[in-house]
Amino acid sequence: MRQKIGDEIVKNVPQHVAIIMDGNGRWAKKRGLPRIEGHRAGAGRVRDVVEKCLELGIKYLSIYAFSKENWKRPKNEVSGIMKLSEVFFRKEFKKLVKKGVYFVHLGDRNGLPGFLIKILDNIKKNNAEERKMYLNIAFNYSGRNEIVKAFKSLSELVQKGEIVPSDITETDIDRFLYTAGMPDPDLLIRTGGEMRVSNFLLWQIAYSELWITEVLWPDFSGQLFQNAIEDYMKRERRFGNV
Ligand code: FPP
Repeated sequence: MRQKIGDEIVKNVPQHVAIIMDGNGRWAKKRGLPRIEGHRAGAGRVRDVVEKCLELGIKYLSIYAFSKENWKRPKNEVSGIMKLSEVFFRKEFKKLVKKGVYFVHLGDRNGLPGFLIKILDNIKKNNAEERKMYLNIAFNYSGRNEIVKAFKSLSELVQKGEIVPSDITETDIDRFLYTAGMPDPDLLIRTGGEMRVSNFLLWQIAYSELWITEVLWPDFSGQLFQNAIEDYMKRERRFGNV
């Protein structure tokens, strides 16, 4: 794309893209398969999008893999997603780290099964040295809960007398989020056609552009991701200005 469109437009490549990967269940149902098969197919799409980010020079990709609300799903679906995630990390982590992909967990470690906590610890120890891009995986994540967590941390600073409430700024809140130090998403993609944000990165998406497709996540492709990026690049962002 860089070669094709040229330097001027390349400047508009988003720095941070967030994705709500929806539609796995419907994809499976259409094929008469159990829902978990949709999640399995969906996990396979993540790699294509990461490769595309590396190719296009997108520095941050945030994907919504499992929300705190997802615990309400049937037990076998929940344990299936946990297992699939383990497989995803075992299969992809080393390969992607070699390409300079730095893994970040967004979410609560509490409540995760031991085998996933071990994997997260291993990721911390063996993460990429060269950070060509960040892959933020939201797992056991809730946007509201993340904001509550930031409030608690700030309240502790107030209690210790390290900050005065009237001095609290947006930047102070930013630094207690899982995404501390990262730019906010420029673009939020949602597959599966639903028109909602589902408690994903609530604070961070204040000015994100939205791109929603009917395509179900397991059918999403690197090319479709590129189409979303090209659409985004044509948009004019105003951040509340005229
Ligand atoms: C939403 O589809 C998808 C999920 C809740 C799970 C997504 C998880 C994966 C793709 C596994 C990958 C894991 C990692 C760590 C990358 P849905 O089930 O809500 O679909 P529906 O709306 O059609 O029912």
